[in-house]
Amino acid sequence: MAQAEREMANAYTVVFGGLDYLGPGDSTTTGTIAERFRAEMPSSSRVADLGCGVGASALVLAQRLPMARVLAVDSHAPFIVRLETAANAAGVGSSISAVVGDMANPPSLDGVMGGFDLIWSESAIYSIGRINAFTHWRPLLKPNGWLIFSDLVWQCEPSKRSGKASAFWKKEYPDITTPDAIVGQLTAAGFCPLDPLSTGRQPWANYYEPLRDRLSLLANRQNRSQALIDLLGELEQEIDVYDCAENEVALSFFLARRDTIPE
Ligand SMILES: C[S@@+](CC[C@H](N)C(=O)[O-])C[C@H]1O[C@@H](n2cnc3c(N)ncnc32)[C@H](O)[C@@H]1O
Repeated sequence: MAQAEREMANAYTVVFGGLDYLGPGDSTTTGTIAERFRAEMPSSSRVADLGCGVGASALVLAQRLPMARVLAVDSHAPFIVRLETAANAAGVGSSISAVVGDMANPPSLDGVMGGFDLIWSESAIYSIGRINAFTHWRPLLKPNGWLIFSDLVWQCEPSKRSGKASAFWKKEYPDITTPDAIVGQLTAAGFCPLDPLSTGRQPWANYYEPLRDRLSLLANRQNRSQALIDLLGELEQEIDVYDCAENEVALSFFLARRDTIPE
């Protein structure tokens, strides 16, 4: 790993190492949506949680879908170590296979590539790009398998968006768009989407409240690397934009069934 990459990875561990949510999320929402699918999941289901972080959603999926084997994938090794510890403590260690890997090309689960009944991804699809994710993930699903992910979306018309939020998100997440546009992208990529589910403030509070505390603590830390200083600056700016424009951007869940057309 190059020096710059190592410093960035260390900065991630320092900032997020003790947090449970690495993006907006809420175990009640995760659990409620998972329950909706429980009845139709086969007895030995295969589930993938891609960009799983430290396991906020993977643990809930393993608890709510006890018939499933869950492959939890993240590229940051320390997150996977934390997930394994948490899964064992929660008594679902044998249901979860936590692996360091690339969410665009996830590793096998129990020696089998793909064949998932459900691919889940919370606040992570932006990392590899939505369209890219749809292209890579569709072949990994069984025909009629489900893709469920959360993503940040504009929830107001362009004319009502503040200059501050527009400029920030254009730079940090140029792919951000409206729920309708994502539904259109899903359809074009070979999925049959349901209506998106918008979430409220709780997922943001779960992420930003502990993060605010963490940022204050790290503000006075000595010997910070440039990567850490930059990351702290970006996160402070993101929280500031949210505070000023919390009604402009929302976290929505997208639920889409893969069509049955073969590859
Ligand atoms: C915003 S965090 C969300 C984590 C988790 N789903 C949650 O809601 O707490 C995005 C995660 O995606 C992971 N990630 C980014 N690019 C990745 C890639 N190409 N493959 C696997 N994981 C990736 C990051 O390490 C990070 O844990």
